[in-house]
Parts: sequence; structure tokens; C-alpha cells
Amino acid sequence: MNPKDRIDASKLPKHLAVIMDGNGRWAKKQGFFRSFGHENGTKAVREIVEACAELPIPYLTLFAFSTENWNRPKAEVETLMKLLVSSLKKEIDTLEEHNIKLNAIGNLEALPKKAFKELKEVMEKTKSNKHMTLTLALSYGSREEITKTIKEISLKVKNNLISPSDIDESVINNHLYTKDLPDVDLLIRTSGEQRISNFLLWQIAYAELYFTETLWPDYRKNHLFEAIVDYQNRERRFGKTSEQLNN
Ligand code: FPP
Repeated sequence: MNPKDRIDASKLPKHLAVIMDGNGRWAKKQGFFRSFGHENGTKAVREIVEACAELPIPYLTLFAFSTENWNRPKAEVETLMKLLVSSLKKEIDTLEEHNIKLNAIGNLEALPKKAFKELKEVMEKTKSNKHMTLTLALSYGSREEITKTIKEISLKVKNNLISPSDIDESVINNHLYTKDLPDVDLLIRTSGEQRISNFLLWQIAYAELYFTETLWPDYRKNHLFEAIVDYQNRERRFGKTSEQLNN
């Protein structure tokens, strides 16, 4: 049976996050430069956005560029930024057509001016779209996000805007880049690596983790549907017992 037909439409994850890994290895395996892998990675981005819109999965967050990725060779960073700009220009109409809102998380001011401007334009243009929210994590690192949050809350305490006893999980949530997004239900990482790499550490507290050997440029809709079927076969207990859930 086609994996899509095995999906239970009533048990879809609300928020899917993806660590798109393996572009470089995919290219090198074929004797090409790493940038060829990134270019082909954009095709997988398109497929997965389309698949989420079809199901639908209302929130999709993609790890497109980490705070640590700035340490890559200058030429590779430039390629990734150029790809970001060209993909935004190319896909704006598709986002509009499918009623998809583009969102971004991370230290966006660190992006090159051109990429920042293009991103802001597409975000502004799609801000009222309701079918799905596509979030790009760009210059994103979870530790940076948590540090920023602590600084902002400390400043509010210092200025007597809130008292330390008011600080609870919702206050912290409201200072994260992801304040308008629900918690992550399913986190997928491609390419066989089994680590989180400073991605959404707070937000994945109760996420189901799914690792696949498939390299990102090869990732297609059916791979995602398989991951969702696997997710739906798990029991999410959120600290409770199985008996409590079934009664
Ligand atoms: C990881 O592969 C991938 C990235 C660091 C960037 C992801 C970017 C894309 C999929 C293309 C552009 C995306 C958008 C949203 C326009 P890697 O380079 O770490 O691969 P490796 O682990 O095999 O070296």
C-alpha cells in the first residue's frame, strides 16, 4: 500500500521540524562540489513543503542555516545565501497560491543585506496566509535563542516589569523566536546522523525523533509519509502511563 494511504488523517503531527542533512555527502558521492548538493536540496525542500500542504501539516520548520554554519568556507556560505535568495524569488508565487505563510527564526540580522531584505519582503507578502506556516531557521542556534530569552527576561525583572516569581514556562515560551508556533511533535533528521545539533532544544521536549539514512537531496514525499506512519504508531505518553492514556 502507498505510504500516504496508511496515514491516519486524524492523527497528523501539528508541527514537523526537519534537520535537512547530507547535501555535501550526496554531492561528493557523485564527484561534484558540495554546492551541487545544496542546489538539489532545494528540490527536496519543495517536495516536503508540498507534501505538508497536501496532508495538511500546519507547521513545518526547516533547519536551513545554523549559527555554527557561519564557520563553513566563505564560498559555501555564499552559495547557501544565494540559494536562499533565488529560492525565495522563485517560490513566492507558489507560497501565495497554496496560502502558505513564510516565517523565519534565528538571528536574522546576521544575514547578508540582500537575503534579509528578500526574506522580509516574502514574509510581509505572505503574512495573512492561513493554510500552513513554513518557518525557515536561519542563522539559528537554540543556545543563542535561550541566551537571548534569558537576557530579555532579566532586563524586564531589572526594570520591575515582572517579578522573578512570575517567570514560568509560558513567559519563557513568549520570548523565544518560536513564540507563535506550537511545540514540535515530530523531528526528522536525514543522512544517518543521530543528534540534535543545537536545534529547537526547548521546543522538542516531547517531540518524537525520527532518523533516516536518506540524504536530504534524495528525500521525497514518500519518505515523509513513511516517517508519519512510524510517528502514528508510537504512543505519546507525555509522562503518563499507558493505562492512563487508554482509559
Ligand atoms: C546540510 O547538509 C544542509 C545545510 C547546511 C543547508 C540546507 C540547505 C538547503 C537544503 C538548501 C537551501 C535551503 C533553502 C531553504 C532555500 P550538509 O552540507 O551539512 O551535508 P553533509 O553533512 O553531507 O556535509
